[in-house]
Amino acid sequence: MTYRREEHVLIPESDLEGMSVDTLAVRAGQIRTGQLEHSDAIFPTSSFVYGSAAQAAARFGGEEPGNIYSRFTNPTVQAFESRIAAMEGGERAVATSSGMAAILATCMALLKAGDHVICSRGVFGTTNVLFQKYLAKFGVDTTFVGLTDMSQWQAAVRPETRMLFIETPTNPLCEVADMEALSGLARANDALFVVDNCFCTPVLQRPFEHGADVIIHSATKYLDGQGRCVGGVVIGPNTLMEEVYGFLRSAGPTLSPFNAWVFLEGLETLPIRMRAHCDNALELATWLEGQGAVDHVFYAGLPDHPQHELAKRQQSGFGGVLSFTVKGGREEAWAFIDATRMISITANLGDVKTTITHPATTTHGRLSPEDKVQAGITENLVRISVGIEAVEDLKTDLQRGFEALENYRQGTV
Ligand SMILES: Cc1ncc(COP(=O)(O)O)c(C=O)c1O
Repeated sequence: MTYRREEHVLIPESDLEGMSVDTLAVRAGQIRTGQLEHSDAIFPTSSFVYGSAAQAAARFGGEEPGNIYSRFTNPTVQAFESRIAAMEGGERAVATSSGMAAILATCMALLKAGDHVICSRGVFGTTNVLFQKYLAKFGVDTTFVGLTDMSQWQAAVRPETRMLFIETPTNPLCEVADMEALSGLARANDALFVVDNCFCTPVLQRPFEHGADVIIHSATKYLDGQGRCVGGVVIGPNTLMEEVYGFLRSAGPTLSPFNAWVFLEGLETLPIRMRAHCDNALELATWLEGQGAVDHVFYAGLPDHPQHELAKRQQSGFGGVLSFTVKGGREEAWAFIDATRMISITANLGDVKTTITHPATTTHGRLSPEDKVQAGITENLVRISVGIEAVEDLKTDLQRGFEALENYRQGTV
């Protein structure tokens, strides 16, 4: 059959099958209007019109596919959902208003009162609060365990365990989970294995290939990549996503068309950005290890990282986030952070601009002192989300931090 572009203004979905994530990032999921725009279209409309009352009824009744109302159907949002689903190798995605909304929607849709969750201690602080404080109010009990200790996961299983939840690598300590082992445990106990893939993105890691049932993203991070918008997405099989979609339609933590459009543009450059983040992070981690004022560097790309070999098997790069402890406590960590001039002091990560954070008082500040100790969030810990600036310029800026620490040590500050 001759391929005629006038009939196929978009690449047919079947042609995209088997294509690399680099291609899918640019090509998958686009919806083209009659204007034949080359870039993704944005549909800032709350509702859609029908040809007749009967058509409206058919749409609402689910007999006819099509747009209804942007809380649950919007073409720009759908384009983003299709693209990220293709990149992760999942059947369907449901976009949400934030990464936290993605986690909430997953739990509200797939759990019920009386269910039990096992969650790694090394998750984003707010994820911990969501499970511990809010889902507990609705009868979902959560046990927190060490990410890399399988015996803790096994010991935590109960007859009512319905979900295992992880991030890998973790925020901020870069621990790496053995996804195949955890998915085996989940399967054996009829539980879902949910992976927050925010740190790696599908460019570096595809959790479905390692047994995940559901993947979650804070799109706010690398998917956007330039720190512009807040959003999230859940990806998984149609059966599960229909439930998540039903929750979204009823509760409304919807992604806006504008944010979806920003994420679509962000995805196009995700593969090249991720490689640049990885290169810079590995170089900086190695450099930081050689600094006298540093106690320990947490980065899975370092050969002495306890899960370095596992990370090499599961990931095609080690990611852009690293953490390190400075000798001392909170004062030293703050002095280090405050001495930098170019690197942004902010809690976001996954931005092309390098950011520096004190997790104990920001992202993980709401954890109790005991939970912080358990999660390894010490007062002398500093997190860097390494951007794509020239690595030598990053070193120059961080060197200011080391000089400040030296002055502090000598009592000249
Ligand atoms: C790993 C991870 N998951 C989820 C979230 C929550 O995402 P959002 O801020 O988009 O709600 C974050 C935020 O920092 C995160 O780091």
